[in-house]
Amino acid sequence: MDVQSPTRYCRRFGYRQEMLTLMNTWKWSPVWIVSTLLACSAAALAQSPPPPAAAPRPRFADNMAERTRACTACHGDQGRAGPDGYYPRLAGKPAGYLHNQLRNFAQGRRHYELMTRLVDPLSDEYLGEMARYFSALQLPYAQPAATNTISAERLAKGQQWVTQGNPSLGVPACTQCHGLRLTGVQPNVPGLLGLPLDYLNAQLGAWQTGQRQAHAPDCMAEVVRRIPAEDLIAVSSWLARQALPADTHPAPRPPAGPPLPATLRCGSAPELSSTAGGQP
Ligand code: HEC
Ligand code: HEC
Repeated sequence: MDVQSPTRYCRRFGYRQEMLTLMNTWKWSPVWIVSTLLACSAAALAQSPPPPAAAPRPRFADNMAERTRACTACHGDQGRAGPDGYYPRLAGKPAGYLHNQLRNFAQGRRHYELMTRLVDPLSDEYLGEMARYFSALQLPYAQPAATNTISAERLAKGQQWVTQGNPSLGVPACTQCHGLRLTGVQPNVPGLLGLPLDYLNAQLGAWQTGQRQAHAPDCMAEVVRRIPAEDLIAVSSWLARQALPADTHPAPRPPAGPPLPATLRCGSAPELSSTAGGQP
């Protein structure tokens, strides 16, 4: 068993088979955890500017921080996101959303083999516990950093989709489901700000190709299907340029508005359809 150069296990591509073998053999062992963490922080320091100053660490009565070390090796300390835009942030996302994603990986609606292997053997109750743990972590967000080339006109188009949608194509504004501040809606809808451009493009693209699915009915698949591909890039480019508002918490309930069309019911967030339009 080669644990001489754990740096290799932090790379996003390649060495997957070795990582699997390593995980199976050394899973949760102190050797694996410590060497991977060290290697990942060394790689992070070498490759990118230092992360923003960490908020004071919340205290936890249990040792969830220890038990999720295998997760934070990829997802960054306290789930703050990996250094390169590939490993998503977990901290502060709505607990129901995180729990649904863990189920999606375990049940084949999202695909990332290294993670699936980790979450597969865990009980649904424990997945929920991890989701609540990461959801409760409050960490500052990095400044938006998208630098792809796109005209001001295209960006304005992206903003239009996000804030107004397109009634003639049957697409509500993203804000109708993701909250007026785009910081998500409790308990099941994630925010859309503070996500790297690569991650946004990868997720929207995965819905286009059916690689990513949510619990049926999958409203996001339908939204993505109705938006022209070139406009999706405008949408993600606009989102990845927005700073977070002062209050980054997910909204407690969906915004008031016209009810969602029946074809856009969300299996993973049924509350969007039952309350939209009914609440102030
Ligand atoms: C080997 C690296 C790796 C490990 C270890 C890992 N993850 Fe992940 N995780 C990923 C990647 C990569 C993605 C994004 C995959 C994609 O693009 O769909 C992801 C996605 C997720 C998501 C969805 C996030 C979102 O915003 O949609 C959750 C939740 C998650 N991981 C939780 C965990 C937990 C909990 C653990 C520990 C039990 C864990 N991960 C271990 C790499 C990893
Ligand atoms: C009808 C409600 C609805 C609308 C409208 C909607 N979304 Fe979503 N979106 C959801 C739900 C629900 C989820 C969580 C899906 C899941 O559980 O996997 C989601 C998830 C996402 C994610 C995944 C985030 C992550 O961290 O992985 C992205 C990206 C996204 N939406 C982008 C958009 C964009 C961009 C728009 C507007 C063009 C939009 N959504 C409009 C309901 C909606």
